[in-house]
Amino acid sequence: PVLVVDYGAQYAQLIARRVREARVYSEIVPHTMPVESMLAKNPSAFILSGGPASVYADGAPTIDAGLFEAGVPVLGICYGFQLMNTALGGTVARTGKREYGGTAVTVRGGCDLLDGQPEAQNVWMSHGDSVEQAPSGFTVLASTVDAPVAAIADPGRRLYGVQWHPEVAHSDNGQAVIENFLYRGAGLTPTWTTSGVIDAQVEAIREKAGTGKVICGLSGGVDSAVAAALVQRAIGDRLTCVFVDHGLLRAGEAEQVENDYVAATGIKLKVVDAADRFLAALAGVRDPEEKRKIIGREFIRVFERAARQVVAEGGADGTDGEVRFLVQGTLYPDVVESGGGEGAANIKSHHNVGGLPDDLQFGLIEPLRTLFKDEVRAVGAELGLPEAMVWRQPFPGPGLGIRIVGDITADRLATLRAADLIARDELTAAGLDREIWQCPVVLLADVRSVGVQGDGRTYGHPIVLRPVSSDDAMTADWTRLPYEVLSRISTRITNEVDEVNRVVLDVTSKPPGTIEWE
Ligand code: XMP
Repeated sequence: PVLVVDYGAQYAQLIARRVREARVYSEIVPHTMPVESMLAKNPSAFILSGGPASVYADGAPTIDAGLFEAGVPVLGICYGFQLMNTALGGTVARTGKREYGGTAVTVRGGCDLLDGQPEAQNVWMSHGDSVEQAPSGFTVLASTVDAPVAAIADPGRRLYGVQWHPEVAHSDNGQAVIENFLYRGAGLTPTWTTSGVIDAQVEAIREKAGTGKVICGLSGGVDSAVAAALVQRAIGDRLTCVFVDHGLLRAGEAEQVENDYVAATGIKLKVVDAADRFLAALAGVRDPEEKRKIIGREFIRVFERAARQVVAEGGADGTDGEVRFLVQGTLYPDVVESGGGEGAANIKSHHNVGGLPDDLQFGLIEPLRTLFKDEVRAVGAELGLPEAMVWRQPFPGPGLGIRIVGDITADRLATLRAADLIARDELTAAGLDREIWQCPVVLLADVRSVGVQGDGRTYGHPIVLRPVSSDDAMTADWTRLPYEVLSRISTRITNEVDEVNRVVLDVTSKPPGTIEWE
C-alpha cells in the first residue's frame, strides 16, 4: 500500500482518498507508529500529511530519518514537507508570515512532480513556518512571495515535497501532483478497481466463513446493504439477513428492503415486524434521550431473538449449522478514527446497525473495513443494487421516533410519514437529492397554531423542514433550497396532510443546531 502518515490534522483521510481516486490502494498510519512497523507493511510509497503543529512547537510530532533511507519513495505535504526538510538537513524558518488559503505559486517546472504544469498557479496553503533552504541534493521546483522553497524534489532518491495542499479541491492541478508522484515518482500503476475490491473481498469472506452460517442486521442504509450483498455473493444462502421494522420507518422503506433489495440480490431475508412492541415501549415518552435508549434496547432484544432463531434452524439448509459470524458495515474512516486499524477492532457503538451489542457471541465479518463511502457506493452499484439504495441519504437508526417532538403515537407517525413522503418526492422531482446531505422532516406534536383551511378555523401542528448541506455530518449548513420547491412542498403538505396547517423552514447551521431535532 501507499502509507499516508497522519500528522494529526484532518488531511490524512483526504489524501488517502485522492490516492484511491488515482486507483492506487492507500492506508493511513499514525505518525507515532515506529518506522520498522511501517516498513513491515511493505509500503510502495509514503505520503507525509499536513498537521496543525509548528516544527518548533514543544512536543511537535517528529520523524525518524530512517524513513527516508529505506529506498521507498516519499512525498511530504505541508507539515510533512517541513519535517522532511528538517530531517534531511534543510532549514525551516519562523518567518512570522503566515500563508493561509488561496496563494499564488510560481512553478519553475521540471521534474516529474510538476512537469508540464502552468507557471502561475493558485494553490491552497496553511502554514506559519517556511522552508528557507532545501536539503542538499534537492532541486527547488516552486516558490511563493513568502515561501522561497515551496516544492522540492530529489528524483534520484525519489523524495518529493510540496508546501501546499494538493489534496484539497481549491488547489489547481492538485490531483495531477498526487498522480505524478504516484505514477512517475514512485512508478506505481493504477490497479485499485471496484471489481478488484469485490473479487478480493469475496475470496476473503469465503475463506473466513468456512462452512458455517453468517447473519447480518440490515438497517436499510447503504453500508449494511452493500456489506450483506458482498457476503451474499461469497456464500449465497448461508447468509441470513435480519431486518427489524420498528415502526419508525419512513413510507416505503421496509418495502424497499423487502422487495427491491431482495430482487436485486436474491438475499435470504428475515423481516421482523416489531412495530407494536416499539410503540408500546415508547408510549408517553417525550424525552429525546429516553426515546433513544428505549429504541436501542428494544432493537437489540428483537435482533437477538431473530439471531437465536437463525441459530436454532441449525443445519437444515445443508451447512454445518453453526452461526459463527455477524456481518457489520464498518467503514475505513471508523477504523481510522478508532485507532488506525491496528490490533483489536474497536467499533464505535453508534456505527453498529442499531447499536448491536458487543457480547453477541459471534466473530465479525467486515467487508467494507478498508473502504471509503464513495467506494462503498461504487461497490454497491457494481453489485447491481438499486440506485435509490446506493445513493440513499443518511437516516438515523431511531428513525421517525426522534423526529416527533412530543410523545410518539401511531397517528402522529402516520402524519409525519405523509409529510415526509411529500417533501422527499418534491426534492427528488427537483433533482436535488445529491445536492442536499439529508432533509429531516419534523413534526412538532406539542405545538399547535391557528390556521384557516377550507372554510374553517383549524388548530393544527407545524411541520419543520430541515434541509442541510454537509460533507460528514460533523458540521452542516442549511441548504438554500429554491423558493418554488419550498412553496410546492408547503402547499402540498398543508393540503394533503390532516392535522398540519403550517410548514416552517429551519435556517440553523450545525453548530449550533444538530441536524436532527432530538
Ligand atoms: P446530529 O443530529 O447529531 O446528526 O447532527 C448527525 C448525523 O447522524 C445521524 N444520526 C444518527 N444516525 N443513529 C444513526 O444511525 C442515531 O442514533 C443517529 N442520530 C443522528 C443524523 O441523521 C445525521 O446524519
